[in-house]
Amino acid sequence: MYNGETWDMVYMKHLHDAPWMSDECINLYSRIIDKYLPSNLSTLRILDYGSGSGKLTYRLKEKGASVDFAEISQYMIDWLKQEYRNCGVNIYKVEYPQQLSKVASYDIVLAWMFFCNVSPDFWQIFLRGFYEIMNSGAFLIIGGWDEEDPVNIKNNFVIPFTAHKAWSINQLVNYIGGKFEIINNEKILISHPFYEDPRVFRCYKLKK
Ligand SMILES: C[S@@+](CC[C@H](N)C(=O)[O-])C[C@H]1O[C@@H](n2cnc3c(N)ncnc32)[C@H](O)[C@@H]1O
Repeated sequence: MYNGETWDMVYMKHLHDAPWMSDECINLYSRIIDKYLPSNLSTLRILDYGSGSGKLTYRLKEKGASVDFAEISQYMIDWLKQEYRNCGVNIYKVEYPQQLSKVASYDIVLAWMFFCNVSPDFWQIFLRGFYEIMNSGAFLIIGGWDEEDPVNIKNNFVIPFTAHKAWSINQLVNYIGGKFEIINNEKILISHPFYEDPRVFRCYKLKK
């Protein structure tokens, strides 16, 4: 698994050009995520796990949700604290969701572009951790690539991502193990601003 220092290096170098931080990606992902959210968010507590810029969920605060960010990268934690100071969001430095179990419990957990950056060897641990910090009936919303990056893309990708393996999350469903009820398991073909050809993306909506 990639630890906090690795992600620190990524963000130190690519805070301004990491693809998932671009407005195009945020807009694209926001449109997809919104389809999985309840229409009324007021009074709901949402955790953005592996939040990166936090832009995917901060916008939900305007719709009445209370929003927390959790990140492994200290560099990003410092950036988030600066960027969202006085914005009424909680920001947690974590390596596993279990670390939040004494802090809060959530109605919605978003793990977006998260599992595809984590080896399947660890998926069970993360799913268990998410389960622990969710209220009964809460939703876990997951998005990620359904396929690994083709070699030509890896070769052209912003360093140090060339060294990273992006796991396809199409097998995630096999790790859920009766914990969650599967509400949606959907493949979506998306025209991603970063890739020449449309790519297959997968979303899971799970209910505790
Ligand atoms: C590809 S980025 C996606 C960021 C954001 N979810 C988005 O879609 O814009 C993956 C994020 O997960 C964070 N991350 C990786 N491993 C983590 C872990 N074990 N716990 C918390 N965050 C982690 C990274 O620092 C990085 O910000």
